Amino acid sequence: MGPMGTWLLALQLLGWVWVGRATVSNSFKDCNQFLFMKTPPVGLRGKELQWICQHYNSQPYYVTLYDSSRRTPIYSAYTFKKSDGQERMDTPWMYEPQLASRDDSGNMRVLPPVEEMDPLIEASQAVLQDFADAILYERGALNPDQHQSTSEQKAATYTLTNNVPLVTAFLEESWTAYVDTVRQRLNNFCRGKAYVVTGVVVTGTMIRRRNTDRLAVPKYLWSAYCCPRFDRNSPYEVRYMFPTYAAYGINQEVGYSVQEVPLKTLESILKNQTDVDQNLSLFYKDCIVENTVKKRKK
Ligand SMILES: *[C@@H]1O[C@H](CO)[C@@H](O)[C@H](O)[C@H]1NC(C)=O
Ligand SMILES: *[C@@H]1O[C@H](CO)[C@@H](O)[C@H](O)[C@H]1NC(C)=O
Repeated sequence: MGPMGTWLLALQLLGWVWVGRATVSNSFKDCNQFLFMKTPPVGLRGKELQWICQHYNSQPYYVTLYDSSRRTPIYSAYTFKKSDGQERMDTPWMYEPQLASRDDSGNMRVLPPVEEMDPLIEASQAVLQDFADAILYERGALNPDQHQSTSEQKAATYTLTNNVPLVTAFLEESWTAYVDTVRQRLNNFCRGKAYVVTGVVVTGTMIRRRNTDRLAVPKYLWSAYCCPRFDRNSPYEVRYMFPTYAAYGINQEVGYSVQEVPLKTLESILKNQTDVDQNLSLFYKDCIVENTVKKRKK
């Protein structure tokens, strides 16, 4: 092989190594096992969007669409794991190195202390100091550890790229109860995989620090699940919530109850918001299950 050939081979290897390590890119194509029919939601817009395949200890666990300009996730999409709902509070908070530098590790990493904070990290994403002074808000996970099972799956939810500032009362009295209701429902009546997408609508409210806009504060938090294989003998009170159902809540101090609604209703509400296109679709073909599969199984 001539010098040119060697050079080309080296380039190819470099390219291969780079692609293999990239967890932030312009699609979820290397991580689409967490999406129903490997299809991401359509119609949610943002500025400076980044597609994060969330890696922890070199394993992928879920995906997040991240808006770097407002330092907020737009949504996280994950598969629900049957779970007793235990939280894992001892995990240190992490960040996504590849948002700061594409050449960096593709694994989420523990946030450095304030004194050692790299300005590139702070510029590209939320850091703990953003939450420290914003006393109205708490971190709320889009993919919550209560919906994951192993300690690694739970730990992987503790990255700030999967968290948004939520009004404490809304999170503690309303959203957490909804997350638990869905956990019990899917534990009891979902027979196969359940795909969940949970996201935000932002309207311009920002958490500020040192006189600059830092994080977008969600106006709405919304969620939808898709469980194509469910218990067809489930009681009437839950039967109509399969294969898919959805919910939303307003992130505010009063009047914040979470409403459970059909997927189509959530989609119409979202289509009325800024940064949402009329072709919004959270699940491929609205999570409708092919009849042929059902017949073969019977
Ligand atoms: C959409 O917004 C309009 C005007 O603000 C309102 O009348 C309508 O009820 C909204 N539709 C939904 C589905 O929220
Ligand atoms: C959805 O609509 C927007 C404009 O409204 C367009 O830019 C985008 O390509 C559409 N997406 C798909 C998948 O059709």
